[in-house]
Amino acid sequence: MGLRDRYQARSPGMGPTITDDLERTWEKSSRYDRVARVRSTERLTETGTVRMAFDVVDDQPFVLKPGQFVGIQALVGDFGYRKSPYCVLSPPGDEQRFELLIRVVPEGPLSCYLASLKVGDEISFRGPTGRSMVPKDDDTSQLCLMATGVGISPFLSLVKVLADRGFPRPIRLYWGLRLVEDICLIDELDELVSSVEDFQYQISLSQPPEDWTGLRGRLTETVPPLLEKLGDRRFYLVGNGAMNKEMAGALSDLGVDRHFIYEEHYFNLKYQPDNDTLREIRRRFVANDLFSPVAHQEAGGWLQRDGQGP
Ligand SMILES: Cc1cc2nc3c(=O)[nH]c(=O)nc-3n(C[C@H](O)[C@H](O)[C@H](O)COP(=O)(O)OP(=O)(O)OC[C@H]3O[C@@H](n4cnc5c(N)ncnc54)[C@H](O)[C@@H]3O)c2cc1C
Ligand SMILES: NC(=O)c1ccc[n+]([C@@H]2O[C@H](COP(=O)([O-])OP(=O)(O)OC[C@H]3O[C@@H](n4cnc5c(N)ncnc54)[C@H](OP(=O)(O)O)[C@@H]3O)[C@@H](O)[C@H]2O)c1
Repeated sequence: MGLRDRYQARSPGMGPTITDDLERTWEKSSRYDRVARVRSTERLTETGTVRMAFDVVDDQPFVLKPGQFVGIQALVGDFGYRKSPYCVLSPPGDEQRFELLIRVVPEGPLSCYLASLKVGDEISFRGPTGRSMVPKDDDTSQLCLMATGVGISPFLSLVKVLADRGFPRPIRLYWGLRLVEDICLIDELDELVSSVEDFQYQISLSQPPEDWTGLRGRLTETVPPLLEKLGDRRFYLVGNGAMNKEMAGALSDLGVDRHFIYEEHYFNLKYQPDNDTLREIRRRFVANDLFSPVAHQEAGGWLQRDGQGP
């Protein structure tokens, strides 16, 4: 059974998205006019996380800002030309190189294709493009970074860049994974803890083993009780669009200005959280340094978030 057959067999009744996907985007685009060659490839977890390094082998400069992605185009069997963005894991540098962290989605055409590449194989890409995550020089906020799965990727680039600049404020990273087997990059994260002035990270497992001593649950369960304040920091949410939108929705309801919430959705782009879900998440937050319009309204317009009167 070919990749396309397995993909279709996996997807009966999944609605128009898969069908649309199979009938759309298979033309070659001339925008993917850059070339990179696989320098190394390393399977980091048995659950399907692959780290890949590439040398840029065209004659254009590779100018990167943390948070940016490259768009990759590849001819994947009878799927035609698949195109998808991948955030860059490595920090900007003088060399024409970049690294990616790829989640091998079962039967996902492009991620499986990338994971199958060997050293010396070439890919077509465009970019880097997208927003920079680096705060402006006059910004005084702390940073609260939250990633699910391979959404951790641009944060490694960002923290390294900020470390080089001597970023003077706390940076807290919360990483949501499902299984203990999903954990990787620990040496690199620990190295950042020891080399960056005020950087700490915590891993939250949604399906932890009994002896797991880290955070237990989804980020939307485990992070809200840890944040003493909301008004003095920028929030960066990267990975599963469902987590991003739930967390961003709750933060915004609690009074965080949307300008202080940076979101990068890797998938679940169309997901919209319902009111009950958002209410549950809001209730887990302990910080009460901001005026919360939604809680104020829910409380009849005069009660505070803790249910007490003024
Ligand atoms: C801005 C941006 C940056 C991205 N950066 C990365 C990155 O750094 N690393 C990376 O692996 N992917 C990243 N992605 C996702 C990537 O572009 C592809 O969507 C992904 O590799 C799946 O493509 P596919 O052709 O294999 O499968 P598809 O058929 O396109 O996807 C199948 C299903 O896989 C799931 N899925 C997609 N991406 C992920 C993921 N990252 N983790 C878990 N499940 C997923 C979704 O449920 C999706 O419907 C990014 C996406 C965007 C929009
Ligand atoms: N291994 C499994 O059990 C399993 C299950 C479903 C799907 N998959 C597939 O495996 C692939 C890779 O998944 P992945 O683990 O890299 O990424 P992922 O599905 O985004 O999961 C990473 C982490 O994000 C959590 N998460 C999911 N939705 C969330 C939300 N709304 N709010 C907060 N946290 C949320 C997950 O918790 P949860 O564990 O609670 O989801 C998990 O802890 C995907 O294609 C997915 O469809 C695997």
